[in-house]
Amino acid sequence: MTSTVPQNIGVVGGGRMGAGIAQVFATLGSTVTIAESGDRQAALARVSDGLDRAHERGKLGDGDPAIVLSRVHVVGAPDDLPTALDLVVEAVPELLDLKLGVLSVVEKTVAPSTVIASNTSSISIADLGAALNDPSRLVGMHFFNPVPASTLVEIIRAPATDAGVVDRVRGWVSQLGKTEVLVNDSPGFATSRLGVCLGLEAIRMLEEGVADAESIDRAMELGYRHPMGPLRSTDLVGLDVRLAIAEHLTKTLGDRFAPPALLREKVGRGELGRKTGQGFFTWP
Ligand SMILES: NC(=O)c1ccc[n+]([C@@H]2O[C@H](COP(=O)([O-])OP(=O)(O)OC[C@H]3O[C@@H](n4cnc5c(N)ncnc54)[C@H](O)[C@@H]3O)[C@@H](O)[C@H]2O)c1
Repeated sequence: MTSTVPQNIGVVGGGRMGAGIAQVFATLGSTVTIAESGDRQAALARVSDGLDRAHERGKLGDGDPAIVLSRVHVVGAPDDLPTALDLVVEAVPELLDLKLGVLSVVEKTVAPSTVIASNTSSISIADLGAALNDPSRLVGMHFFNPVPASTLVEIIRAPATDAGVVDRVRGWVSQLGKTEVLVNDSPGFATSRLGVCLGLEAIRMLEEGVADAESIDRAMELGYRHPMGPLRSTDLVGLDVRLAIAEHLTKTLGDRFAPPALLREKVGRGELGRKTGQGFFTWP
């Protein structure tokens, strides 16, 4: 495993996950360029807020949030990324065609030695590799939400992924102080497949009136020692994100992942969880 901190990294998509990924690499000492096609100022503000929170909680050591933030730059499009990058992490929304387009532009923009990673929660890395001339440089680097506090990174290797690429990514995950699980490529990998399964069943139980949301969550928290129940966890991930994953897993793995009507209704009403203030619970 490599033990060198990546000097320069790129992140495509400066939303919830991309901003978190930028934050942890900048804290490690990397220079980070975020390509964000939406509000660039908001993307930088997300990183800045995350750094302030980490500082308040004593998680930056003697690091100064302003100095860490000075290592983060935001550009508008993936083809504005610098060429000389050690790593690019794609973190745009969970839509296959969008990700294929972004990955293809990234490959044409960065140096041949740059590792290209996707933070997809469910799409198989081999499917995403179809966008690249050289799929051996593509690997799954599945961070969890919130990135700074979460200790796990799921690393996904497709049949085409070069062993040296996996090795470099394992080294970087260890540099970040996070723990890896290494899985072979399959839709939903290990984490989303099981997490979504539990979440969907909890929503069906709510739909069928088995118990209220608080009771369903408490049953798993106290009965099975889950740190957070499946409905609150769905609120944190985002109901829209969970719906997109469930739809993708239904297509690839079968009807057992079919999204319940209640999930579709709530997404249709804009009740997306913590980010909108309302999901299965109300958030301040
Ligand atoms: N939210 C979670 O809990 C979670 C956890 C693990 C993985 N993921 C995965 O991470 C990815 C991102 O999820 P998120 O929750 O951060 O989404 P998000 O909607 O918060 O952020 C996505 C960002 O990408 C930007 N974007 C869209 N198209 C772009 C383009 N062509 N070029 C540059 N930027 C573009 C959007 O403007 C937005 O800021 C998804 O694949 C998701 O499945 C999400």
